[in-house]
Amino acid sequence: MSDEPEEMLSWDETVFRDEHVFEIDYLPDAFHHRTSQLESLKYALRPAVRGSRPLNTMIQGPPGTGKTTAVQKLFGELGGETDVQTVRVNCQVDSTRYAVFSRLFEGIFDYEPPSSGISFKKLFGQLTERLVDDEDVLVVALDDVNYLFYENEASDTLGSLLRAHETHSGVKIGVIIVSSDLSLDVIDEIDTRVQSVFRPEEIYFPRYAVDEIRSILRERADRGFHEGVLDDAELERVAELTADSGDLRVGIDLLRRAGLHAEMRASRTISDEDIEAAYEKSKHVHLSRSLRGISDSERALLEVVIDHDGQQAGEIYEAFEEETDLGYTRYTELVNKLDQLGVIAARYADVEGRGRSRELSLEYEPEAIRDRLD
Ligand SMILES: Nc1ncnc2c1ncn2[C@@H]1O[C@H](COP(=O)(O)OP(=O)(O)OP(=O)(O)O)[C@@H](O)[C@H]1O
Ligand SMILES: [Mg+2]
Repeated sequence: MSDEPEEMLSWDETVFRDEHVFEIDYLPDAFHHRTSQLESLKYALRPAVRGSRPLNTMIQGPPGTGKTTAVQKLFGELGGETDVQTVRVNCQVDSTRYAVFSRLFEGIFDYEPPSSGISFKKLFGQLTERLVDDEDVLVVALDDVNYLFYENEASDTLGSLLRAHETHSGVKIGVIIVSSDLSLDVIDEIDTRVQSVFRPEEIYFPRYAVDEIRSILRERADRGFHEGVLDDAELERVAELTADSGDLRVGIDLLRRAGLHAEMRASRTISDEDIEAAYEKSKHVHLSRSLRGISDSERALLEVVIDHDGQQAGEIYEAFEEETDLGYTRYTELVNKLDQLGVIAARYADVEGRGRSRELSLEYEPEAIRDRLD
């Protein structure tokens, strides 16, 4: 059937009604299956509307389970309130205390702090002064806060935010932290001096079940594709593949790529073949995200591990040192960071005659990593 002329797309036709709905930063109108989480978050934020400090909150859950979307939805609603300011900081991008506060400054003043270098103290002072003068409550979401932990900046950042009212009288700040690294015990990892002022409400975002994934993706596909492009059997396949990873982003990316693949064949409809081909790329959305914004040293280490997959940390260091001249301490930090990102695994193994040593291996196919490093 697909060879019939009426099944073929002409050069100026497309399967997409609105391709934008499959983009990474698209905020969906419909946000189902997260009612209880949204209620809990609303409960924590409600005091802000009355001019009081909101409850601090910790949101946790695996990747692609709607955490960021939930924060964006509620911040959107709070945006209508006159005396509440909301700022979401992406800690993968802004991963130091200074960077976080620069972003907060920008959120509040609507312009960036002077790039000529203003001290943290000044930055902090100007920010809090403005909040107090305007009698505004500030709600800060530290999204992907796990990156602050990887850089050892979490305690200082949280400490400054949570103790702001002690150093700057009258200031009202509430903090939402969002983490998708379930192996990270956030409370345990922060300094005791900060722990004592951080008793957050906890909200958990579990993985979506396959029927939830199916209905979310159907809704997205109906908006994004023309009628008849994606039938139920194909949707089912996409939902299964998405459920395997648990990350809804895989499904959304898969829909877009399958659509593009169908167009490449000049087909009006998405077939299994389009989905399987697209999945080869879409299954790595998480890897792409982890590798986005890695530093030059992290990249250098990763390239060395690709060539020495499965070898001992000590042996790999020799190759790494040759490439970079970096010391062993720095090397260990970089190994830990790539391990936390889930790109490599550093596992202790018994080595004959040398006791216990770490073995470094790739968590993805080397080609998949290499493709995303370029
Ligand atoms: N209930 C839902 N309804 C519609 N779309 C959703 C829903 N939950 C998540 N999404 C979509 O799935 C994608 C991933 O969601 P989101 O970015 O909120 O996940 P996350 O939990 O913040 O993931 P990560 O921990 O990796 O940052 C987004 O494109 C979002 O629009
Ligand atoms: Mg997120």
